[in-house]
Amino acid sequence: EDPSVLPPRPPVVTIMGHVDHGKTTLLDYLRKSSVAASEHGGITQHIGAFSVKLSAGKQITFLDTPGHAAFLSMRQRGANVTDIVILVVAADDSVKPQTIEALKHARAAKVPIIVAINKVDKEEARVDLVKSDLAKNGVEIEDYGGDVQTVLVSGRTGQGMQDLEESILSLSEVLDLRAEEDGMAEGWVLESSVKSIGRAATVLVKRGTLRRGDYIVAGEVFAKIRVMLSEGGVELEEAPPGTPVEILGWRDLPDAGDQVLQAPDEDKAKNAIDYRRELSERGEAVSQMA
Ligand code: GTP
Ligand code: NA
Ligand code: MG
Repeated sequence: EDPSVLPPRPPVVTIMGHVDHGKTTLLDYLRKSSVAASEHGGITQHIGAFSVKLSAGKQITFLDTPGHAAFLSMRQRGANVTDIVILVVAADDSVKPQTIEALKHARAAKVPIIVAINKVDKEEARVDLVKSDLAKNGVEIEDYGGDVQTVLVSGRTGQGMQDLEESILSLSEVLDLRAEEDGMAEGWVLESSVKSIGRAATVLVKRGTLRRGDYIVAGEVFAKIRVMLSEGGVELEEAPPGTPVEILGWRDLPDAGDQVLQAPDEDKAKNAIDYRRELSERGEAVSQMA
């Protein structure tokens, strides 16, 4: 099958960087300044991932800090959940150990990065130092003739945030991300917990479309999807590729980093381990988040 004829899907963007360099502040800004993809908007964050429609009308899925943890655990399993890493570096603190960790993970996963040099509103900001520190750590930034974009931003004042959105959009156009909307769905568990409403897992759908009533397996457990909720807590009938959803209906709690596979019926789902083995023997399991 020619992948170029598949429908486009939203890019999945993970924000990484050293502690306190402003990851959450940037995400909050993007969330507020954008028209939330769900009708009710993402006023209170409901799950550790959210979709926004940027001003240009394109949808983007951002993974928040729990998504970041899942990203690392999935990396250890050899799967890539993210298409783009935004590496946040505070202009007043420059490259730090967790910046370098994030770089390592992005490189190992062969995920392209965009560097957001944050806190440029601060008097202590030293953008040139950050750029030379990045170069010293092997980041081939545009200023030095490479192809990694650096964007100067402030999550506090909003300066440069439009440029950051544009960088994300132009990089995703280059990546030309597409996924099947039909067929058996696949995805990944980003996080899971037991809540008052029951066992809940945030699943990022990467291929196919999940619907209420579908059977899915994750690790050794299964669910008949009872409810799917968007980030804003809105009930969804279906979740196409690129959509993060909170799923209820689990018989046991799956783990963050587990791969989610749709199963044709309850019997297959109940025998999650056998079903997974069967798929992999048939060579049908499973894309590495293509
Ligand atoms: P962790 O999740 O703890 O690793 O931190 P983080 O990277 O999410 O940073 P966070 O968004 O919590 O910001 C850390 C501190 O920096 C907070 O006090 C923010 O208000 C502040 N901050 C974030 N962005 C900016 C900025 O652009 N300018 C200024 N002046 N302060 C900022
Ligand atoms: Na912080
Ligand atoms: Mg944070």
